[in-house]
Amino acid sequence: MVDNTSAFHSSEYDRKIRQTFPYYEDFFAQVVELVRTVHAGPVCWLDVGCGTGMMGSAAFGNIPLERFVFMDSSEGMIGRAKERFRFPNAEFSVSDVRDLQYENEFDVITAIQVFHFLQAEERRTVLRQCHAALKENGILVSFENIAPFTETGKTVCLEKWRRFQMEQGKSREETEGHISRYGKDYFPITIEEHLRLLRESGFRVVEMLWFSNTQAGFWAMK
Ligand SMILES: C[S@@+](CC[C@H](N)C(=O)[O-])C[C@H]1O[C@@H](n2cnc3c(N)ncnc32)[C@H](O)[C@@H]1O
Repeated sequence: MVDNTSAFHSSEYDRKIRQTFPYYEDFFAQVVELVRTVHAGPVCWLDVGCGTGMMGSAAFGNIPLERFVFMDSSEGMIGRAKERFRFPNAEFSVSDVRDLQYENEFDVITAIQVFHFLQAEERRTVLRQCHAALKENGILVSFENIAPFTETGKTVCLEKWRRFQMEQGKSREETEGHISRYGKDYFPITIEEHLRLLRESGFRVVEMLWFSNTQAGFWAMK
């Protein structure tokens, strides 16, 4: 049985996720480059839905860190992340992002492939909570599965994604299983809706970071 909301058990997540997302490694490189550009000094960083800790893996060694909090609602995922990192300034929290209660504590909050699991109203609440948790000029960076603008766009984009997964060695059955999660296990919204929601949540700067087919990255500054 899977021990988190992603399609994969924490023990096989790192291998399976690379067969699923084209450019997966690039997400983290993009975030590191952005944080480096925006924040010069040591940063306080919260990674929500951290999974096995890929974001931390890219951040440690590349960015001066005062504090890095790995947060995930899955004990299995946090367990994996913990095995990876022995840094004194790394903290681990098994908690749900919907219960986020920090105030003015972080320079950076990342949510890599996490918020698409939230329902529409939960998204609104969580974005406001992230805004509250950031310091002034702090940034939220989110990568997500996004909704194409039209039904035809959705058909084409999902077909491209189907083809990618099969080329990576997944069986047809497994690939179809993943594609069928759209709108059932995760709830993508369009790029336009993302940008509007971020603005409505109080962020003074809202930008796109990256986009390809059915994944996109956004960043927003308090
Ligand atoms: C697709 S994985 C992404 C993991 C990691 N960020 C990465 O990019 O490899 C989604 C992660 O979000 C976590 N998650 C989903 N809903 C959550 C919630 N409401 N609060 C905290 N974590 C959540 C899951 O347990 C899972 O580890």
